[in-house]
Amino acid sequence: MFSLFAKTPATSTRHIGAERSAECATLHASSFAYPWGEADFEQLLAAPETYAGGAVEASESKLAGFVLSRCALDEAEILTLAVEPAWRRNGIGRNLLGSHLAGLAAKGISRVFLEVDEENHAARGLYASFGFRQVAERKAYYRSADARQATALVMRLDMA
Ligand SMILES: CC(C)(COP(=O)(O)OP(=O)(O)OC[C@H]1O[C@@H](n2cnc3c(N)ncnc32)[C@H](O)[C@@H]1OP(=O)(O)O)[C@@H](O)C(=O)NCCC(=O)NCCS
Repeated sequence: MFSLFAKTPATSTRHIGAERSAECATLHASSFAYPWGEADFEQLLAAPETYAGGAVEASESKLAGFVLSRCALDEAEILTLAVEPAWRRNGIGRNLLGSHLAGLAAKGISRVFLEVDEENHAARGLYASFGFRQVAERKAYYRSADARQATALVMRLDMA
């Protein structure tokens, strides 16, 4: 379906809620070997501690990307982030993460954590460009589709 819209669209970033659960599940399935289901997203997006942003395509309101964090006191953990595969490498991820971090800062969050597969060079490049730095690693933390056991890097960003 997305091949009909392969040209990267103009997007705007905005808060998303449980009404976007099905789209998040579809996008997650196209981005990760072990996808989360629609019910998982419904639960997450309805939870008060979740802070979620979406990059929404202007003309048809399709979800081009999303990012979800869980907040506790002044800390947040980015749980997942994904951009529609056909529309990657066009700045959507950067815009999405930038506005998400600004929103977290406005909520009083002072530290943000996340885990990323050490082989995920795209995501690592994105996080590094926002100043995330590695603070720990978890060996054999992920199981990839080809049964590879991958190391997770734990990254931290201290908000200015
Ligand atoms: C990671 C992801 C969200 C990036 O989204 P995107 O819209 O393609 O990213 P952008 O176009 O905004 O690129 C921002 C930066 O990310 C890095 N990056 C993105 N794709 C890259 C790639 N294929 N190779 C290397 N670096 C890459 C670069 O640093 C880039 O900056 P640059 O364009 O100045 O070089 C996207 O690749 C994705 O959804 N991946 C699958 C899901 C995933 O891995 N999520 C993160 C889990 S921790």
